[in-house]
Amino acid sequence: MPDHSTVYTKQTELYDQMISKQPSLLKVIEEITPLNDLDVIDMGAGSGRLTTILAPHVNSILALDSSAEMLDLLDEKLKDQNSLNVETQVADHRNLQAENESADLVVAGWTICYLASTNVENNVHNINEIMKEIMRVLRTKGTVIIFETLGTGCETPNPPEFLKQYYSLLENKYGFSHKWIRTDYQFESLREADKLTRFFFGDDIVDKVVKENLLTLPECAGVWWLKKENNES
Ligand SMILES: C[S@@+](CC[C@H](N)C(=O)[O-])C[C@H]1O[C@@H](n2cnc3c(N)ncnc32)[C@H](O)[C@@H]1O
Repeated sequence: MPDHSTVYTKQTELYDQMISKQPSLLKVIEEITPLNDLDVIDMGAGSGRLTTILAPHVNSILALDSSAEMLDLLDEKLKDQNSLNVETQVADHRNLQAENESADLVVAGWTICYLASTNVENNVHNINEIMKEIMRVLRTKGTVIIFETLGTGCETPNPPEFLKQYYSLLENKYGFSHKWIRTDYQFESLREADKLTRFFFGDDIVDKVVKENLLTLPECAGVWWLKKENNES
C-alpha cells in the first residue's frame, strides 16, 4: 500500500473533495441489507463517505478511525447535516472501541487494506485479528460489508498485487460473498482532476488522465459481505 498517513492528517479536506466526485454507495449497501433501525459501526470512517449517507437511515453509528484529523472533519460534516445519532472515536481496527455484540452492521471502506497488504509486516495476523474484532462486535444475524480497491484507472477489475492475498483470504478462508462495482470519479475540469487526484494516486495515473483529456477517471471497487450466523467470535 502507498503510505497515505500524511493525507489522513494534513490533507483531509483534499481527500474529502476527491471522494465527493464518486457515486454514493447507499444503494449498494441497501441491496445487501435493509437499513431500518440498525446500529452501525463504520471502521476507518475517515471523513465519512459511508457514515454521512447511512446516518439518516439507521438508528446509530459509531464511526471509528485511527486519525483524529479525519474524524474532526467528519464531526464538522455531521454538524452541518444535523446528524445527532453518530459518535466518533479514535480506534485501531485491531482494537475496536466498541462493546461485544453492539452492532447490526459493520462497514469498512478502503481501510482494512492498510493493515492487510502483503507489504505490511504481520499482514495475515492483522487480518485475523480484525476478523475476530468484527465478529466480537457484531450481533448474531448482523452483517459486515467491506469495500476495497480493484484498481484506479481501469474499467474492469485489476487488483494491486499486494492486496490479492487479502482478497483471497476474505473469500476462501472467511467465507465472504463478493461482487465488483464501478466507482468512477467525475470531474468538472482537467484542472480539478489534477488537483484532486495527483496527491493521492501519484503522477502516472494523473498524467494519463490529463494526456487523454479524461474528465471521468474510471475505478473498480470490490464489495465483500458476510452475515454472522451464530455466536462465532
Ligand atoms: C481511504 S480512507 C477511507 C475513509 C472512508 N472509509 C471512505 O470510504 O472514504 C482510509 C481511512 O482508514 C484509516 N485507517 C488507516 N489505518 C487504520 C487503522 N489501522 N485503524 C483504523 N483506521 C485506519 C485512515 O485514517 C483513513 O481515514
